[in-house]
Amino acid sequence: MLVLGIETTCDETAAAVVRVEKDGRGTILSNVVRAQIEDHAPYGGVVPEIAARAHVEVVDRVVLEALDQAGMRASDMDAIASAAGPGLIGGVLVGLTTAKAMALVTGKPLIAVNHLEAHALTARLTDNVAFPYLLLLVSGGHTQLLAVTGVGAYAKLGTTIDDAIGEAFDKAAKLMGLPYPGGPEIEQRALVGNPARFALPRPLAGRPEPDFSLSGLKTAVRIEAERLMDDSGNLSETDVADLSASFQQAVADVVADRSRVAIRLFRQRFGEPTALVVAGGVGANQTLKRVLAETAASMGLALVVPPPKLCTDNGAMIAWAGAERFRLGFTDPLDTAPRARWPL
Ligand code: KG4
Ligand code: ZN
Repeated sequence: MLVLGIETTCDETAAAVVRVEKDGRGTILSNVVRAQIEDHAPYGGVVPEIAARAHVEVVDRVVLEALDQAGMRASDMDAIASAAGPGLIGGVLVGLTTAKAMALVTGKPLIAVNHLEAHALTARLTDNVAFPYLLLLVSGGHTQLLAVTGVGAYAKLGTTIDDAIGEAFDKAAKLMGLPYPGGPEIEQRALVGNPARFALPRPLAGRPEPDFSLSGLKTAVRIEAERLMDDSGNLSETDVADLSASFQQAVADVVADRSRVAIRLFRQRFGEPTALVVAGGVGANQTLKRVLAETAASMGLALVVPPPKLCTDNGAMIAWAGAERFRLGFTDPLDTAPRARWPL
């Protein structure tokens, strides 16, 4: 089975071809990602209108490149999948409309994929993880701990009551004068920083429900940054490195604490999970991965984190989620509407 996947919900225009083998495992035949980072950098965050226009400009080329690299034509596909939300509506519209047009012309079924579901199922493509598993979804827009018990079967155990973790990285970076996206910047600076220099808070640590709160941590970074700034509002390299390392460590500690609570809750409600799975862009963070590996091991669980290229937004995860749905018989009508909001 061959599925094309298109992703345009945020600031990456992406397309990929995934083949599902006879044993049910997936093979990525191509995975093309065109990031818009430079387009949004001057604004310190994603500008929806700029994103939508950029998607329109490149989506055809990105899709053709994905088919080319796979050595395929659109008519070779068994299904055409696109993220149909949640995300920036102008962008979602671009990918979904492209997929609809291709489905119409080729006569192949359309699969409208939930972007969050695609993140949630990626570990089954990369590591063949079996249900049920505990998912930590950490991206720019979402922070959730979910019990994944099947395709389309997700139970929310905890979520953020304010900022998403990726958003907290982006905002903390901005406060320190670092460019967007902040996650990779902070990780880079933190490499030479002292994670123990600043005593930043660990919000909600020890609470019995696995929820998150990040805004207090961000405020603590703001206070330290403002205290250390020179008259022209600049921080020294050392201060940026130490503050980055301290922030990153605080986030990792919070995530570890919240995940421990979620593992216990999962066991009470759903039995033994096969793994703790991480998904979403923040999953690319090495410190987070190291701390979570310790947490999982101490509770007798395997940790599965897809490679960074498949943690951040990409077309392969959409194609794979499309394939997972398609083989269960789910397809979607050509009048499927794009959705800005679409909770799992
Ligand atoms: O999943 P994703 O690519 O897009 C969304 O659906 O949101 O996640 C993007 C988010 C951004 O907030 C970015 O700063 C964060 O993931 N991120 C990271 C790292 N790489 C990306 N955060 C921490 N460390 C990283 N290495
Ligand atoms: Zn995402």
